[in-house]
Amino acid sequence: MKVAVVGATGMVGQVMLKVLEERDLPITELIPVASERSVGNKVKYKDKEFTIVSMDDAIAAKPEIAIFSAGGNTSLEFAPKFAEAGTTVIDNSSAWRMDPTKKLVVPEINANVLTKEDKIIANPNCSTIQLVMVLHPLNQKYDIKRVVISTYQSVTGTGKAAVDQLNSEVKGENPEKVYPYQIFKNALPHCDVFSDDDYTKEEIKLMKEPKKILGDDTFNLTATAVRVPVQGGHSESVNIEFENEFDLDEVKKILSETPGVVLQDDVKNNQYPMPLYSEGKDEVFVGRIRRDLSQPKTLNLWIVADNLRKGAATNAVQIAEYLTEHNLV
Ligand SMILES: NC(=O)c1ccc[n+]([C@@H]2O[C@H](COP(=O)([O-])OP(=O)(O)OC[C@H]3O[C@@H](n4cnc5c(N)ncnc54)[C@H](OP(=O)(O)O)[C@@H]3O)[C@@H](O)[C@H]2O)c1
Repeated sequence: MKVAVVGATGMVGQVMLKVLEERDLPITELIPVASERSVGNKVKYKDKEFTIVSMDDAIAAKPEIAIFSAGGNTSLEFAPKFAEAGTTVIDNSSAWRMDPTKKLVVPEINANVLTKEDKIIANPNCSTIQLVMVLHPLNQKYDIKRVVISTYQSVTGTGKAAVDQLNSEVKGENPEKVYPYQIFKNALPHCDVFSDDDYTKEEIKLMKEPKKILGDDTFNLTATAVRVPVQGGHSESVNIEFENEFDLDEVKKILSETPGVVLQDDVKNNQYPMPLYSEGKDEVFVGRIRRDLSQPKTLNLWIVADNLRKGAATNAVQIAEYLTEHNLV
């Protein structure tokens, strides 16, 4: 199977190559793609060097699957061209996520919606993926009424240039800024751009995407997304109000038995999820699980995951695995 990795030089693309190495997709040919600036440069995959090709050369090679992590505009322009050539595109950008004709997939939750006809498949936003991995099993059991989310998001979520900004600021330099302010020693309540209603696009993604993935629009979400000077992963403080009463031990049991979720909840021994320790891992970590004492049927918890792994590359590769295992490409 030929697989193109579009955006292979980027923050997500580099992790994508690593995740593809680790997992079992039957890849016979890897086709790395990046911008015209990088064509001819090399990337490493399985200890070998591969030359970056142009978008047009990659389309002409007719890969079975193309995994895009190269920004929304690149996806809008080129994903349909790959699809026309018969390639199935798995797209990490926000370009197609809320398009009603495209599927938005977290394999543990809704891979069963995929068919052979889906030629452009959307990978959800990184902070959405870790959130729904925890919301889904709880929604099935207790029926969610409302969710309030506050995020603490890693600079790796903004891409290579943002990591460079933080690293330079740590050294006392005054680099070119990706964010409107210094990020080192700071917290910016500003992830992605502001929309007309004064929410950021990141917050709107968190409020809309979970309903589509869970196939349930009977509950509501609200979000505040904050960028922090952290690199290992995104953290989320989540308040969940249910329609039905829950038992705290049962909640913990359900989450501990959910594939892809790891329960880290032992406060007496200072056990709770942290981004420093989620880096490089595929699982979603959940802890600090406790009743909201201010109102009934309501829970507080804390979710952490590596946004470049389960939040992007791993989820996309899992979709590719599902497609091949079910003969959908
Ligand atoms: N970072 C995350 O946690 C995360 C999570 C989920 C989704 N995403 C999405 O994934 C995408 C990439 O994010 P990133 O963080 O990896 O960004 P990044 O580090 O800035 O990398 C961007 C990549 O896109 C390539 N690219 C840019 N313009 C292109 C063009 N016109 N044609 C082909 N390739 C082009 C770049 O190639 P050059 O090196 O040649 O410039 C580079 O490989 C974005 O759409 C982002 O929203 C990111």
